[in-house]
Amino acid sequence: MLAFRLEPDDGQPVYVRLYAQLREAILTGRAAAGTRLPASRVLAAELGLSRNTVVAAYTRLTDEGYAHARGGAGVYVASVLPENAAFAALASPDALETMPPVLSARGRQLAAMGLEGGSACPVPFVADVPAFDVFPLESWIRLMARSWRQVQPDMLGYASAAGHAPLREVIAQNLRATRFLRAAGSDVIMTSGSQQSLDLLARVLLDPGESVWVEEPGYAGVRSAFIAAGARLVPVPVDAEGLSVEEGRRRDPSPRLIFVTPSHQYPLGVTMSMARRVELLAFAQSCGALVVEDDYDSEFRYAGTTLPALQSMDRAGRVFYLGTFSKSLLPTFRLGVLVPPPAYAAVFASAKSVIDRHPPLLEQVTLLSFMRSGQFAAHIRRMRRIYRERQTVLVEEITRQMGDILHMEPSDAGVHLIGTLKDGRDDQAFCAGARACGILLRPLSDAYLGPPARQGVLFGFAAIPPRRIVAAVRRLAAYAHNSDDGALRPARGGSAGPAA
Ligand SMILES: Cc1ncc(COP(=O)(O)O)c(C=O)c1O
Repeated sequence: MLAFRLEPDDGQPVYVRLYAQLREAILTGRAAAGTRLPASRVLAAELGLSRNTVVAAYTRLTDEGYAHARGGAGVYVASVLPENAAFAALASPDALETMPPVLSARGRQLAAMGLEGGSACPVPFVADVPAFDVFPLESWIRLMARSWRQVQPDMLGYASAAGHAPLREVIAQNLRATRFLRAAGSDVIMTSGSQQSLDLLARVLLDPGESVWVEEPGYAGVRSAFIAAGARLVPVPVDAEGLSVEEGRRRDPSPRLIFVTPSHQYPLGVTMSMARRVELLAFAQSCGALVVEDDYDSEFRYAGTTLPALQSMDRAGRVFYLGTFSKSLLPTFRLGVLVPPPAYAAVFASAKSVIDRHPPLLEQVTLLSFMRSGQFAAHIRRMRRIYRERQTVLVEEITRQMGDILHMEPSDAGVHLIGTLKDGRDDQAFCAGARACGILLRPLSDAYLGPPARQGVLFGFAAIPPRRIVAAVRRLAAYAHNSDDGALRPARGGSAGPAA
């Protein structure tokens, strides 16, 4: 009746493999309801197994309801299986693979808007990541090992949802000193990065259908988080002073939330002027809107001084400040901070506990040591020098090797630059062509929610050492100058040919 051989060893105990095969035979109907299974002695002899092994498999089948023992009269396939009829119909692996997932409206949004990840060794010119090659990994490993050696029993259970209190204190101190933030340690909530802070903000502050002003162009992660929460996004153009409050007011006079990157607009790089900051806060207060300030890369300013955070000017308790260690350290640590207005601190800590409890404690303890020992500040100073050099090399090489195709200006801040395509070239086609020769570029038009007002190409330079920048630009220039693709070729037989 059950003509089968035991499947090859997959690391499971033999009785489990036998049980799985018998269960499969029952679920697919090969062993029909009411069928008597072979006597354990018979099956053991047939398969060359011990009788105990077969008995163990039968016992598991009967324990789980797939079969039942009739006293000494043998073991029979159950007439009603534990899985209902619908499940049994799906039990074939083919059905499992072709079955479409049934999702909530929120689930459909989340599935449609996943963010990229898993870039292996940084490909030139991947954006939004810091330098991996010069991160002080040895020091971090030493501090991490010390954190584990000094661990106390009370650090091994669930920790505080708002984060490790001494770390929150040091971060608040640091934000007061560098960003003039009005925050005590108790106002700081540790999150696993800005993406989680945004998700938390969207869930706690927005009801479906409420409107959110987002910068146009803007950061995809922000759009995804708010759309997934069911918000209605209102793209508000960015001009030379930052988000245009006037235009925003025209498009939607009473937003629930306004998202901005005032210190270094993503991706255009504009710093929001003081006049615009005052206008924005006054508008928010007048219509009761809340403001989210994403301060994602303010550590990296190469000339002049960074304006204090918008949050430092907030007297009405409306600004939620977001910081991240993804640029200042590494994205893989998944550590960020959310500083809500004081009235919201307890609410957010509570909501955070429901979502993921808290970020791993030992990483927080290690970060605390890294900051207290002065290594964090030293790392930022060093990275500023390194990034400035990488930026200079990129601008020089682009100008020298393909200035006929792309115009690129240096910037006082940030870890990416935007190149402007000459002669009306299409940024999507240009970036697709670059990808074909192993160069990762992001079209500026992707950063628009509506029709793009501007074309351009986003180059991340932080992760790429100077030698690789030179080689990559050479590859890109050679491709652009020799390609048959009209989007890449210089329109009028360019003068700056590829370097020898
Ligand atoms: C505008 C902006 N905000 C935040 C982040 C950082 O996100 P996270 O902290 O989730 O890594 C980035 C990363 O590229 C960004 O571009």
